[in-house]
Amino acid sequence: MAADGDLSVGTHGNVRKIETSRIPKHVAIIMDGNGRWASKRKLPKSVGHKKGSEAVKEAISGAIKSGVKYLTLYAFSTENWNRPQDEVQDLMGLLRFYLKREIKELHKENVKLHVLGEKSALDAEITKLIDDAEALTADNDRLTLVIALNYGSRQEILKAVQAIAQKVEEGALSTKAITLETLDDALLTKEIPDPDLVIRTSGEQRLSNFLLWQVAYSELYFSDVLWPDFAEQHFIDAVIEYGGRERRFGARPDDEIITDTVA
Ligand code: IPE
Ligand code: IPE
Ligand code: MG
Repeated sequence: MAADGDLSVGTHGNVRKIETSRIPKHVAIIMDGNGRWASKRKLPKSVGHKKGSEAVKEAISGAIKSGVKYLTLYAFSTENWNRPQDEVQDLMGLLRFYLKREIKELHKENVKLHVLGEKSALDAEITKLIDDAEALTADNDRLTLVIALNYGSRQEILKAVQAIAQKVEEGALSTKAITLETLDDALLTKEIPDPDLVIRTSGEQRLSNFLLWQVAYSELYFSDVLWPDFAEQHFIDAVIEYGGRERRFGARPDDEIITDTVA
């Protein structure tokens, strides 16, 4: 296995190296396409979700190999409760199974687990598994695996605004003192840097209520691969493409300023 941060492992036979500074620190993935993967095979959606949960390992090993420090996986949105009850139950069952079976392995790999979302709506057994897993892995520092679960970005922003308004109402904060940082700090992602790269699988090109505030300047990468088929190499390919992108954040890169002056 390659060392962390060494992308000279080759992509489909092509050996490529990426400068460390061009490795995204935080990659967030909208894991989409489980249903279509199953339908294509005339299998029940639950089989697609099961295969999808197995693909999580691929993304984690891709993140570790490429030296990514934060990997966020969108596992269940606040709107996913609107799916048929048996599908919701299947997804919750898989989550329970995943937390029980994988957490020791994640701990051994020095991975820290963090769950993002409204935990109160989840059943007590899952909440306990999450709390235990977060406590067990709290000091790990090779990779932070963030699972977005019962997560909705608009709801997150709403709660943040309510918390800030409450402080203003109590006289603990003045309206003028509210800054971008005030809002950043009131979000669930308080401790997590903004994603550098957002990947969505299955060919869909939308955000579906995912990290709307945090993706202001993220690079977006859309893959036609359905999530259950998304392998470590697909993850590495996305990281390599990110490495070739130019991030401007609205400014002019230095070399363009020089060209203009000379002309
Ligand atoms: C992603 O796969 C998993 C979840 C949203 C929980 P989907 O179940 O959305 O797959 P498609 O979009 O129906 O193919
Ligand atoms: C987004 O996928 C949510 C997750 C991947 C957990 P969906 O399949 O729910 O999104 P839409 O409905 O196609 O936008
Ligand atoms: Mg979908």
